[in-house]
Amino acid sequence: GGLVAFPTETVYGLGADATNGDAIARLYATKHRPLLNPLIVHVAEPVHARRYGMLDDRALQLTDAFWPGPLTLVVPQRSDSPIASLATAGLDTVALRCSAHPVARALIAAAGCPVVAPSANRSGGVSATLAEHVAADFDGQDIVVIDGGASPIGVESTVAAIMANGVVLLRAGAVLVNDIAGVVGAEHVVDRRDRTDDAAPNAPGQLTSHYAPQAPVRLNASQVNAGEALLGFGVSMPPTTGRALNLSASGSLEEAAAHLFAHLRALDAMNPTAIAVMPIPDVGLGQAINDRLRRAAAPTA
Ligand code: TXA
Ligand code: MG
Repeated sequence: GGLVAFPTETVYGLGADATNGDAIARLYATKHRPLLNPLIVHVAEPVHARRYGMLDDRALQLTDAFWPGPLTLVVPQRSDSPIASLATAGLDTVALRCSAHPVARALIAAAGCPVVAPSANRSGGVSATLAEHVAADFDGQDIVVIDGGASPIGVESTVAAIMANGVVLLRAGAVLVNDIAGVVGAEHVVDRRDRTDDAAPNAPGQLTSHYAPQAPVRLNASQVNAGEALLGFGVSMPPTTGRALNLSASGSLEEAAAHLFAHLRALDAMNPTAIAVMPIPDVGLGQAINDRLRRAAAPTA
């Protein structure tokens, strides 16, 4: 019935018993999350997903290839599913994920129930990749935080919906669109990640403004203005007066993803007039990084 924050390989999650509507109501309230934005149901073992969702051949090909791991699958919900309707925002689909993180899997197995876990940050803000981030966001709230060190991937799971017309990519993550195409065939993949239509978001949570620090974010910066902090990438950082962090001096996208949210939080804490972000190559994991940065830079409502 309580709330437990725990590490996954992507980001920290704020967990509750997925069958307990009261706990889930508390989870939405604690995060200040809109009730229409459904949650991911986490399972300890891949086979447990079948208790809640209907997995067709394509879904099973994808779970065989990528679970446990950073892929969330949206599938039709079973009519006898015990998941509380608040968790799915009343939809007839359910988002399922089996994390590869040993602490996440041990927690879910010990709980003996499916666990809903959105990212463990205040709704709309920067995600948490360290236990300290969670503690800072939910200071004084009645939650338990399990400290399992830094989340190694650093950006949220890829979200893909299994639909009649194919596998629809809803959110970019560490499982790349090419990885999915390699398993189900490119002709069965529909890429809808780039839509930023708040009137009809493709995944309810993929709003244009998301992951936003307090400071405005300025993308594709080649120089730093007075008062700004710099989020750099690669060997050649523009000169600054000191408020600068590099996502990866060697130009590694994996390292950049792992540092993204921690660096955004650290620069934001310096109260700059804006955070200037150097360009990140839009390939591989760079697509997930750029998706988060575009939403972080979008005007907040
Ligand atoms: O890496 C992750 O996925 C992390 C860790 C903790 O597992 N969790 C996470 O949860 O990022 P959250 O709530 O921040 O993002 C879940 C996304 C939201 O965009 C939500 O709208 C979408 O998944 N989603 C959940 N259920 C859905 C459904 N039935 N149909 C479409 N989208 C759904
Ligand atoms: Mg989130």
